[in-house]
Amino acid sequence: MLSNRSLFKATARAQQITKTFIRSQQTIRMVSGTTLKLNTGSSIPALGFGTWQDADEQAAAVETALKVGYRHIDTAIVYGTEPAVAKGIKASGVSRSEVFITTKLWNNAHHPDDVEKQLDTSLKNLDVDYVDLYLMHWPVAWKRGDEKFPRDSNGKLITEDIDYLDTYRAMEKVYHSGKARAIGVSNFSQAEMERLLKEASVPPAAHQYENHPYLAQHDFFAWHEKHGIHVTQYSPFGNSNPTYDKGKNIPKLIEDPVLVEIGKKYGGKSGAQVALAWGITKGRTVIPKSKTPSRIKDNFEGDFKLEAEDVKKIDGLDRKLRLNDPSGNFGYKFFKDLDGAA
Ligand SMILES: NC(=O)c1ccc[n+]([C@@H]2O[C@H](COP(=O)([O-])OP(=O)(O)OC[C@H]3O[C@@H](n4cnc5c(N)ncnc54)[C@H](OP(=O)(O)O)[C@@H]3O)[C@@H](O)[C@H]2O)c1
Repeated sequence: MLSNRSLFKATARAQQITKTFIRSQQTIRMVSGTTLKLNTGSSIPALGFGTWQDADEQAAAVETALKVGYRHIDTAIVYGTEPAVAKGIKASGVSRSEVFITTKLWNNAHHPDDVEKQLDTSLKNLDVDYVDLYLMHWPVAWKRGDEKFPRDSNGKLITEDIDYLDTYRAMEKVYHSGKARAIGVSNFSQAEMERLLKEASVPPAAHQYENHPYLAQHDFFAWHEKHGIHVTQYSPFGNSNPTYDKGKNIPKLIEDPVLVEIGKKYGGKSGAQVALAWGITKGRTVIPKSKTPSRIKDNFEGDFKLEAEDVKKIDGLDRKLRLNDPSGNFGYKFFKDLDGAA
């Protein structure tokens, strides 16, 4: 016969075990999205959350995203959203170790002596002691210093003669130190990628570039696959970002009849969800941005697989429509050998 005290202890223990089990089930449910592998051996969630623009609303947006289940946040020092990302993570109650954080080195810190310093600032902003992925934002170097957009008296951005390879070598050092668990680049051309792969000692783990059904870049993606470099699609909704419209009045990608029609086959998915699923089915990461709670939630339901015939139909939508090419302003010719270059 158990005494009252033993009975009380046994009941408390059983309750504790039940709670732990429920908590572990919740954790499994919350992190059960598609994950992909980087060439470092680490996993990267296929669905990430973009934080460019609307800086004042990003703390709430990141908190909502993490509560919905996203486990990958994309930011950059130049977005000014790193502190908001830190706030959002804290408010969500999700532990740092569960979140894959990507941030980016800005063009004013390409000098090899500046790379670690700028990463340290990002780590401080994010209130973390490492990032999961550190990217060189653009291959162009600007004048060293605190100014994010250093301009001459004519308003022209001031470039510096710093080879992106030397910048990347400094990034290799922060990779070896553990402050960045993986390193990579963004907005590189194929020739720049080939040179990097040939000359660098740490192959880039990821390349983040503009990619959506209207700028499919099939051959460029195949090149990355061949070389084991993970691709993250930025602006996965193409011209949904109003910054890109510039009065062109191009019909919205996410309203494209092909995407909408395919969505019906998958239980009423939206064009936006199908656009995300297209990238995920191909083994890429997608990082949609939204400050709107209902859209943050809807976009999370874009993590599903499409059948091959539907992928093929979406592949056929390519218009080589590049929306983000600041070649004129940034003092550098980007994407020279790629589709849709200006
Ligand atoms: N490496 C780079 O150089 C680079 C360049 C650009 C972007 N990025 C990264 O990629 C992320 C995503 O790219 P992006 O911000 O250009 O564009 P995006 O995610 O393709 O589109 C965002 C726009 O679509 C709207 N939207 C979001 N979900 C929607 C839905 N379900 N239905 C209708 N509209 C929806 C958003 O509005 P609301 O916010 O008002 O809801 C916003 O205006 C950025 O936030 C950033 O992290 C990186």
